[in-house]
Amino acid sequence: MSALALLGGTKAKNKPFPVWPYYDQNEERVLKEVLESRVWWRTPGTKTLEFEQAFAKFHGARHGIAVTNGTAALEVTMAGLGITAGDEVIVPDFTFVATASAVLFANALPVLVDVDPETYCINPDLVEAAITPRTKAIIAVHMGGHPADLDRLKEIASSKGLALVEDSAHAHASEWRGQRIGTFGVAGTFSFQASKLMTAGEGGMIISNDDKFEVQARSVHDCGRMPGEWFYSHFIYGSNYRLSEWQGAILNVQLSRLDEQTKRRHQNSRLLDSLLSKIPGITPQKLDERCTRNGQYAYIFHVNKKKFAKISTERFIAAMNAEGIPNQASYPPLHELHMFRNGEYRKRLSGKQAKQKHSFLKKKFPATQKAAWETVWIPQPALLGDEEDMHEIATGLAKIQKNAKELA
Ligand SMILES: Cc1ncc(COP(=O)(O)O)c(C=O)c1O
Repeated sequence: MSALALLGGTKAKNKPFPVWPYYDQNEERVLKEVLESRVWWRTPGTKTLEFEQAFAKFHGARHGIAVTNGTAALEVTMAGLGITAGDEVIVPDFTFVATASAVLFANALPVLVDVDPETYCINPDLVEAAITPRTKAIIAVHMGGHPADLDRLKEIASSKGLALVEDSAHAHASEWRGQRIGTFGVAGTFSFQASKLMTAGEGGMIISNDDKFEVQARSVHDCGRMPGEWFYSHFIYGSNYRLSEWQGAILNVQLSRLDEQTKRRHQNSRLLDSLLSKIPGITPQKLDERCTRNGQYAYIFHVNKKKFAKISTERFIAAMNAEGIPNQASYPPLHELHMFRNGEYRKRLSGKQAKQKHSFLKKKFPATQKAAWETVWIPQPALLGDEEDMHEIATGLAKIQKNAKELA
């Protein structure tokens, strides 16, 4: 009989991983509190307000604006920055669609650039090369929790007068040179969707140390209202992006565990770095020495198929699942999405910009191709396990490598 679980062998991983989302009596208590208070709405409430303040403080920011989800956080940020028709915003080709769709929502053009082939975060050289007189902002994504090169991006943004936005949907509590991410530019955006590092099922946040931006963004998220003004005064374009009290209450409790959970995910990931680097054909996502803490939304590693009998990614993933090691799919390159291929994205643009050829769509994105089609992601709840769990993951992957020929 084969050693591989997919072919009838014994599973490498038998002890269950921690369940996600995690909750205890504290979530139950605060939900009951909100229920019984009958204050379920954010506007008169205290729970979401408290959460905004605590989350911002945790990341070293003066302001926090809680919104309905991470996509909304990016949309409100674009509107708060005044990004509009005719503008360009530079975004990585390797990310979730929201990073680019939020730019289109503002009727501006997301200019896609390739990522670094080792960290899978936006490549600052390519950001520099993509700047035009229309560029207004750069959105960096901290991929899998690993911060983009914030030294270079900050320098480029300030020398060119551009807004730097950190899409930190994967990176709650990550650190760059000992400073928490989210405040290196004008705004940091976060997601609290179910798979994220803390969750209320859905939810989002914008943090900032820029007082002017905060007033604009807060107004956008609350129908264009301004502080201290009559409820039915609406001063700028805005919509309703407010987070409910239920979610604010749960997220406050989730935040209280974030530091300890981040430590565990970071430590377990470093153990995986050392164990998985020994397996031929597996290369973990690089940890830049300036990344002093990685929130680890996922443990990302590259698989060199030549060392795995040239089996497909699907076959590799099936073998991993059979061994009891969870995984999640990587993102496809944005430029390959239907909306960019069939021209639908142009419907959000206007004037010359809607008619021009967008040359970035003809470019090659080799690092994104590698990241999209050749990496495998172990989702964050597995990283909350113990050392034994990490050893079992490594044993399972080593077994797949050793017996890959049987899968071919
Ligand atoms: C990098 C990135 N940005 C933005 C988002 C959007 O967050 P949400 O799903 O909360 O709208 C996600 C979420 O999956 C993401 O991974």
